[in-house]
Amino acid sequence: MESGMFDLKGKAAVITGGNGGIGLGIAVGLAEAGADILVAARNEQKTNAAVNRLAGLGARAVGTTTNVQNEDEVAEMVQKALNEFGRLDILVNNAGIGIRKSPQDYTLEDWNLIMDINLTGTFLPCREAYSHMAAAGGGKIINIGSMTSIFGHDLVMPYSASKGGVVQLTKSLATAWAKDNIQVNAILPGWIETDLTQPLRTEEDFRERYELISARIPHGRWGTPDDMAGTAVFLAAAASDYVTGVSIPVDGGYVAF
Ligand SMILES: NC(=O)c1ccc[n+]([C@@H]2O[C@H](COP(=O)([O-])OP(=O)(O)OC[C@H]3O[C@@H](n4cnc5c(N)ncnc54)[C@H](OP(=O)(O)O)[C@@H]3O)[C@@H](O)[C@H]2O)c1
Repeated sequence: MESGMFDLKGKAAVITGGNGGIGLGIAVGLAEAGADILVAARNEQKTNAAVNRLAGLGARAVGTTTNVQNEDEVAEMVQKALNEFGRLDILVNNAGIGIRKSPQDYTLEDWNLIMDINLTGTFLPCREAYSHMAAAGGGKIINIGSMTSIFGHDLVMPYSASKGGVVQLTKSLATAWAKDNIQVNAILPGWIETDLTQPLRTEEDFRERYELISARIPHGRWGTPDDMAGTAVFLAAAASDYVTGVSIPVDGGYVAF
């Protein structure tokens, strides 16, 4: 295969939650493959630091303060990418949160917050990007699911429901927008070392669970944000032009075991 199949030079990407963790790992991968990057998240300080890191790699990188729960802010985010780069080729819907509780203890506010950010916050950027990608002749959308898109989880029930939804949203959009040459796929990260999983990895209450999870990862270690970059580059590049509607576990073999 030609190396050009993975080349993202001249492409512009928006990454929600691109200022840390998995989002930043993906941003670095896309930037190293040549893409311009708009980092969209709430914490301005973290976003500035991420933009500086990407610029240090030689990428054209810009930040914007966006809450994916907010329809207007999502529209501004897409407009900012168009203003800065003149195009939008790649959208990575990575922003996400979790709250750990037993199912019966969730309030309606907890449930709505998780659904708003993880599921509605994936739908809104897709809807906003669609007309621009279609008019340009195509595009790539990468949604971030989870192992809980596949498995149930006693301690993160609404998170699981939202991430199951991300997979079905991905399939439906892929089906609808194939005619526009927009490929919509998902990455299902395994157990990755980020702020989100820090309590699980460090708190005494979760020690037994941490050890059970770790023992089940055939690769023999938890993943890092950098481990997500290769699959993201594939799904953002011409190499995946005939791949749409799939959800790829990037999990060190966890699902296979
Ligand atoms: N770590 C894992 O093991 C794992 C496994 C499977 C899936 N995932 C998924 O991977 C994605 C990234 O998680 P992570 O582990 O990298 O966690 P993280 O380090 O906590 O990153 C979450 C990112 O989402 C952003 N974010 C949260 N709420 C937002 C909102 N309302 N609007 C815009 N941005 C928002 C955060 O930035 P601000 O706070 O600045 O907004 C941050 O950049 C999530 O969708 C998560 O569910 C993680």
